[in-house]
Amino acid sequence: MVAIADAHAVITGGSSGIGLSVARLLAQRGARLSLVARRPAPLAEAAATLSAAGHRVQTAAVDVADRDAVTAALAGLSEAFGPCDVLVTSAGVVEPGYFSDLDDDDFRQMMSVDYFGTLWPIRAVVPTMVQRRRGSIVGVSSGAGLVGVFGYSAYSPAKFAVRGLLEVLRCELAPHGVHVGCACPPDTDTPQLAYENQFKPPETAAISGAIKPLSADRVAASIVRGIDKEQFLITADTQTRVLARVAGLLPGVLHSTFDRQVRKVQRSRTGG
Ligand SMILES: NC(=O)c1ccc[n+]([C@@H]2O[C@H](COP(=O)([O-])OP(=O)(O)OC[C@H]3O[C@@H](n4cnc5c(N)ncnc54)[C@H](OP(=O)(O)O)[C@@H]3O)[C@@H](O)[C@H]2O)c1
Repeated sequence: MVAIADAHAVITGGSSGIGLSVARLLAQRGARLSLVARRPAPLAEAAATLSAAGHRVQTAAVDVADRDAVTAALAGLSEAFGPCDVLVTSAGVVEPGYFSDLDDDDFRQMMSVDYFGTLWPIRAVVPTMVQRRRGSIVGVSSGAGLVGVFGYSAYSPAKFAVRGLLEVLRCELAPHGVHVGCACPPDTDTPQLAYENQFKPPETAAISGAIKPLSADRVAASIVRGIDKEQFLITADTQTRVLARVAGLLPGVLHSTFDRQVRKVQRSRTGG
């Protein structure tokens, strides 16, 4: 098991939301932090706040979808803080909408940032983790990576792909002493949720509206607990734990529940 107190933790998407909360919790446990995101200003602000609290932080402004750039950035971060012991891939984007309204580019972007932006950082750290027989990798998928949700035809498949990748890596890397986990947050109160709420079709809002968003700190605590306990499926609430069980065993039950909600919204729109 990785001792967080002695760890170099790399967090993609570490400048905001869930990634920033994970960074804060790991730093409070003594980890040295490397935060990765595209925009330098939020990265600098996050780093300044964490440094002011006495934590060791460095940053890299890079697009995780750019394989060569992210590989080079992670190599540089490891030169300064030592090999990566903990990798949390939280960088991600979402574009909800009706299938026919989404642009081809939306589908490409979700795969490129959410899936390939998870794959490339993992590819960059795995050889050294395997060589050292030490490491923990947690990818952030989603509740929408457990079940296909109305309005997420671009996002859900990318998050399914993240979960599929992590399931394979769990088996392949366990014999090498490397832990792999898959976090599946429900709606979480972050800038991403505020952004997508502007564009969610009403059917999507009806399905997710039954669930009160969790705080980023609560989701982050579940991720840190998942690292400590070397869990594979990392959930922060009972509803998602139930969803994971039902999606695996009784998909028909979920489909009819979702279909009912969609019919209700559509009837109310047509006045039928
Ligand atoms: N919030 C939710 O309801 C929810 C639910 C389930 C799953 N999730 C997943 O949780 C993860 C974190 O989301 P969040 O809600 O914390 O979002 P957030 O607050 O918007 O943070 C997203 C982070 O990812 C970075 N990022 C985005 N695109 C990037 C790229 N191409 N390269 C590098 N960094 C990039 C952002 O910084 P820059 O923009 O500066 O690059 C930011 O640091 C995502 O994978 C998301 O899909 C969120």
